Amino acid sequence: MTLESAPESSLPTDVTALPETTVTAGSEWWRSAVIYQIYPRSFADSDGDGIGDLTGITSRLPALKTLGIDAIWLSPFFTSPQKDAGYDVADYCDVDPLFGTLDDFDRLEQEAHRLGLRVIVDLVPNHTSSAHQWFIDALADGPGSETRARYIFRDGLGANGELPPNNWQSVFGGAAWTRTTNPDGTPGQWFLHLFDSSQPDLDWTNPWIREQFRDILRFWLRRGVDGFRVDVAHGMVKVEGLPDFNPPAYDPNSIGNSMSQPVDVPYWAQPGVHEIYRDWHKVLEEFEGDRVLCAEAWVEPLTMLANWVRPDEMQQAFNFSYLETPWSGSRLRAIIDESIEAFSGVGAPSTWVLSNHDVIRHATRLALNPPPPQGEGIGPRSEIAIDEELGLRRARAASLLMLALPGSAYVYQGEELGLPEVIEMPDSARQDPTYFRHHGEKYGRDGARVPIPWEAGAPSYGFGPTAASWLPQPSDWDRYARDVQAGTPGSTLELYTLALRERATHGLGLGTHVWLQGYGEDVVAFTNGTVTVIANTGTVPVELPVGDIIVSSEPLSEAALPADATVWLTTRA
Ligand code: NOJ
Repeated sequence: MTLESAPESSLPTDVTALPETTVTAGSEWWRSAVIYQIYPRSFADSDGDGIGDLTGITSRLPALKTLGIDAIWLSPFFTSPQKDAGYDVADYCDVDPLFGTLDDFDRLEQEAHRLGLRVIVDLVPNHTSSAHQWFIDALADGPGSETRARYIFRDGLGANGELPPNNWQSVFGGAAWTRTTNPDGTPGQWFLHLFDSSQPDLDWTNPWIREQFRDILRFWLRRGVDGFRVDVAHGMVKVEGLPDFNPPAYDPNSIGNSMSQPVDVPYWAQPGVHEIYRDWHKVLEEFEGDRVLCAEAWVEPLTMLANWVRPDEMQQAFNFSYLETPWSGSRLRAIIDESIEAFSGVGAPSTWVLSNHDVIRHATRLALNPPPPQGEGIGPRSEIAIDEELGLRRARAASLLMLALPGSAYVYQGEELGLPEVIEMPDSARQDPTYFRHHGEKYGRDGARVPIPWEAGAPSYGFGPTAASWLPQPSDWDRYARDVQAGTPGSTLELYTLALRERATHGLGLGTHVWLQGYGEDVVAFTNGTVTVIANTGTVPVELPVGDIIVSSEPLSEAALPADATVWLTTRA
């Protein structure tokens, strides 16, 4: 047994010396890729307006290269009134001036490819913004028009159409229908929005919509993107006739109001979505190279989600069942088995994810028992005790476990710094529509979206050249800043950097997972090729086998793995 952790270093990469592009074609790279989610408003701000932008991202790509990821996924940067932080798109083929221009995007993509990083963009097909020209035309043209048939307009119920057409509820709270006003001021039809009223749902039974989206895909594919993360990929097709959701009636506290609604809801996981993805699969094949569609589909069980990644559909689907698994040995073993079995059943890799812009950051969430339902968030009035130290310790262990699993892993910006959820945010700063549609009773997702720290002591921690930040940053974030962590042994940034390097060296993403027997209930222990992985979710130390430590989430002072820690080692016979 070697007790010292492998030397940790900031692994400097001379990115200036790289050739024009280091991205190679083919090879189904997405099967094992580590994909880093950039939330553009909160990553890096080049012009000091407090909102991140594409030029800011480009300037920070070398730091991601050094981290060792394979691809970036950019949350929406398209033209949008930003009612839902860009998930309300008014023009799918242009960049919102807040973030820059199409030329800025091209520069970003070119630089990413030069560094060997693939680029995935976000596609939002379930709904547009109400500011999209399609919706403006639909409102102007009136009932029965071709343009209204692009969306889901219906007459209301009741003597004067004063009641919504059915009882569906918005994911963000309140009714999923909003009534329009006719040009003469009288009340008109209702339109469906599964999310905010500024996000009308498109009617995917309309062939015209299908044609438009094929062209939108081609627009970005021609620009050279390597794939798409598909928003609400379980919601585009609704049950014919739009029947009431029975039971239950609206219960503001039920899980039915989060994105993980059960699958018997008449607007989630309908079989008709698969035809759309088969069609898109073919569009991707029109282009040379190896591209990916990744489904954001909150669908359970995983055997059902696996239908999204059948060989002629998408390549990946986010494994939210894994994300929602608590820090428990038995639960983790079960979900890992279930995931590998479900996805390998259709020949697809499993994905693994612990954080994104919609959930409480895992450095906080893993210390909550139980965490509030997805989308609810936490804030100053939440009656929840937060143990920040425990959360970070578990997050580091959970990340190291995740990165050892075969398949593709998603990393959300800031988790490599160990960022916690921001809880102390004033109500006046909040921007998530969830917060407003619940009249402040649910905090929503802003706490996971705060601009990330780059440099200790700098205004906005180096997020931008000024102190401006669209969501307020906590005053004690110097300690999480990237420059403080880079090269500091034991820092979370160094842990990720080392883990990503060793993951690549040992081919873990394409490896085979085999359980190790003889460990207790609280331990997750397996081999992936020559690497032994042991995670201790319990409270007592676990004796380690003889071997050389590759990387460990906590310092190891004896031949034992402490509580809430993970280690990778190469064992010796
Ligand atoms: C899922 C996105 O991740 C989330 O941020 C957004 O609010 C909804 N889809 C609606 O587009």
